[in-house]
Order: sequence, then structure tokens, then C-alpha cells
Amino acid sequence: MPPSQKGADIGLYGLGTMGSALALNFAEKGFSVAVSNRETAWIDTFLEEAGSLAAKITGFAQLADFVRAIARPRSILFMIPSGAPMDAMIEAILPVLEEGDTIIDGGNADFNATRARSEALAATGIHFVGMGVSGGEEGARNGPSMMVGGSTHSWQQLRPMVEAIAARYQGDPCVAHLGPDGAGHFVKTVHNGIEYADMQMIAEIYGLLRDAGGKSAAEIGALFESWQEGPLSSYLIEVSAAALQSTDSRSGRPMVDVILDKAGQKGTGRWTLIEALKMGQSASTVEAAVGARGWSSEKQVRTRAEDLLSAAATAVDLPSEGDLQGALLAGRILGHAQGFRILSAASEEFDWSLDLARISEIWRAGCIIRSALLDDLAEAFRDNPPEGHLILAPAVRAQLAETVGPLRRVVAAGVAAGVPLPALSAGLAWYDTMRTARGTANLIQAQRDFFGAHGFARIDADGRHHGDWNRLRQA
Ligand code: 6PG
Repeated sequence: MPPSQKGADIGLYGLGTMGSALALNFAEKGFSVAVSNRETAWIDTFLEEAGSLAAKITGFAQLADFVRAIARPRSILFMIPSGAPMDAMIEAILPVLEEGDTIIDGGNADFNATRARSEALAATGIHFVGMGVSGGEEGARNGPSMMVGGSTHSWQQLRPMVEAIAARYQGDPCVAHLGPDGAGHFVKTVHNGIEYADMQMIAEIYGLLRDAGGKSAAEIGALFESWQEGPLSSYLIEVSAAALQSTDSRSGRPMVDVILDKAGQKGTGRWTLIEALKMGQSASTVEAAVGARGWSSEKQVRTRAEDLLSAAATAVDLPSEGDLQGALLAGRILGHAQGFRILSAASEEFDWSLDLARISEIWRAGCIIRSALLDDLAEAFRDNPPEGHLILAPAVRAQLAETVGPLRRVVAAGVAAGVPLPALSAGLAWYDTMRTARGTANLIQAQRDFFGAHGFARIDADGRHHGDWNRLRQA
């Protein structure tokens, strides 16, 4: 069937917080939008609240009417919960779609599911795009960062629209087609893994200042706010500074002091780890952050343990402000480097040719991990770092040379004071592992061969060898 220019530029299904905000963003940029929602009553409410933008938006209660109202080849963005709801919607909409149409999943989906859906739909002539959308409600409404997977055909349809609604960094839209099938959702998952690590490291510095330094939430918030002027400038520092300085109107106490210390999670941090481990990688900073959220939920155990387990005996001098700031920057660099390492491993594994510099660029604005650092990282990738490794890029090495000393001193202070710094410590251990040419895996290989005859490579001969474990025979 020939393409038709008649109809809405884009269809958007799912008028929750993110879907509504994106629909308004498209409309504001001049695109006509057809919308629909499972709970049909929401459609009228949404249109009433859309104000003057409602002129560009048409609501449909019936799925078939919604689809018919969109210009072919259709781009239909789903902003619904990932997993089974997405599969149910694909099944429902498929009979009314036509060859060349594209279904876009804009949720935080498991990239394995995105790959499976793309493959399943390939034979039907319907395209499937997994698109990571970052920036929360505010981002969706005023400019998110978007990580797009799927076919070139779909990207051609989508490109003018997503470039128009995206956040901009010095005029450059924070959206890119990153690769086929699950590439967009994979990159979004790793974005979230880095987000977890960054949030955790900020929380660890807060913990050190609170528990070893006796600082109030407002004092720590003011310190973080001052860091916004320097190399740590980022959305997550801004948010943390504002949260720490907010007051609970009910109790008059600092808002953070009345929040239960149990962190939730929806799974993207965990997915980052699972995929990293499957590829023989380790994102130890992300792992520390996911683990810390898990331990945080064992509140009852921790409350009992506080009286039962001994604390550190030493009172420590709090590291200087410069050291705290430097340590957090080193941790942030190492967390990002681990995330990018996973991306490059996945790029090889799935043959995606991910452009790591472009990924850094589209994370410079709109998304949750946006920060001054990402511009430096984009440049570092453009200069082709040795071994493709961010920590070996000259500019990154220079930053690490200045900040790893502070990281060591801060981790040491945490260890001495008994304040847990799992993500910062993990980052430091990874740094030290990577800068050690002769590691200790020779003993691991010896142990494996000793008890399991697994064999090992020698430093002075090719092939697979076994050890002369003569001490065992003598015993
Ligand atoms: C974003 C965020 C967003 C959300 C995640 C993390 O990029 O806009 O990552 O997707 O914050 O779902 O949520 P959890 O902390 O609940 O896992």
C-alpha cells in the first residue's frame, strides 16, 4: 500500500505521566498527535488539561480508529509498563497495522525482550523500535534524552520528530539511532546502571559527612550546592543538594531525615549487572549500588545489628572538602568507565557498532545522569582512547591523576570510621586492578589446576599446561 501523508504525524498510546508529557511535547513542536489509552476515561481528561495544545491532539477510544488516524507508514509510540502489557498490545494492534509501520516501545524494557520482539515481528513487515527515554516527567515534557534502536527505516520516520522534542546541548539534539534491535534499550539500561552508581556514591559522601562528621542535612546540601560550580556539576548533585536542603512541612525537620532508609528499585540497575556478568564483564560500582539498595531493605536486621555488632573504634578526621569533591569525581569517572566498558562489550557481542562518543553526547542534556563530565568523556572517545578504554584516554588519565589520591583518602577515612562506602571502594579497587600489569590470577589458575586439573597458560611457553603440584604428592 502506498504511503499516505494524511493523518497524524505520530500515534502515542499510554497517557500516564511520561506518555502525556511526551504527547504535549510533540504537539508543542507542531506535530499532530493521535492518542489513546487503555482506560479510555483518561483521554478526555488529558485533552481537557492539554489547553491550547489540544488543537494538535486527537483522542481515540478504539484501537482501530486510533491506528487509522495516523499517517502511513505509521510511527506508534507506546508508553506503557514493560513486559506482558507490551506483548498484549502488540498482539492487539498487529491485525490493524500495515507493512512499514513501526511500533516503538518507549519504556524501560529488558533489551532481550526487545530483541525477541523485533525478531518475531520481522516476518510481518512491521518494525519494532526499543527507545530509551530519560529525564523523567520534566524531561519528557521539555526535552528528554532518547536512545533509539531498531531499523534505519523506522529511524527515518522518527528522526525529525524526536530531534524536535529532544533536549539540546549547545543546539545538538540529545537523541541518536544507536543500532538495530535492542541497542537503544541496552544503552538506556546501562544509563540507569551508571545512574544507580552515581546516586549511591553521592549518598556515600552524604553518609560520611553525616555519620563521621556530624553534619546536618542542610550543611551537606549547601556543600553539594557549592560543588555545582565545579567539575561535579550535574543534575544528580543539583537534585541531591535541593533534597538535602528541603524541610518537611509536617514535622519541620529536614525532609531527608524523615524518609525511611529503604531504597526501591525497578530492575534496570540489576539488568546492567546481569548483562555485564553474562559478557564476562563486571560493573562493580553498579553492583555495589544495587547491592546497597538490597541491604537497605533489611532495615529490621540492621536495627538489631547496630547493638550487636561492634563499631569501628577510631574517630577519624573528616577528609577535606577538596578531597571529598575529588573522591566523588574519581568515583563518577570510574562508574562511567565501567558503564562504557559494558557498552563496548555489548557492541561486539551483538554487532551493534555503538558510537560511544555519540552516546556520551546525547547524555549531556535531558537525561538523569547529565553532567559536565559527559562532555569531557565525549571528547575523550572522539580521540580514540588506547585499547578503547576510557580510563586510558589522556584527558581522563589527567583527571584521575588528580582525583584518585583524594579517593584513596576518603575510602581510607570511611574504612577507619566504619562508614560503608561500597561503590566508592569498588571503583577504587577496579582502578587498582586495571593499573596492575601482573595481577594475582596466576594463583587462581594454580588453585583451579591443583584441584580440578583445569590447566593454565604459561608466561614462557604456548599452549595449555598443568602444574607440578609436587607439594601435594609429598604430603
Ligand atoms: C530516567 C530514569 C528513569 C527512572 C528509572 C530508575 O532515565 O529517566 O532512569 O527511567 O528513574 O526507572 O528507577 P528505579 O530507581 O526505580 O529503578
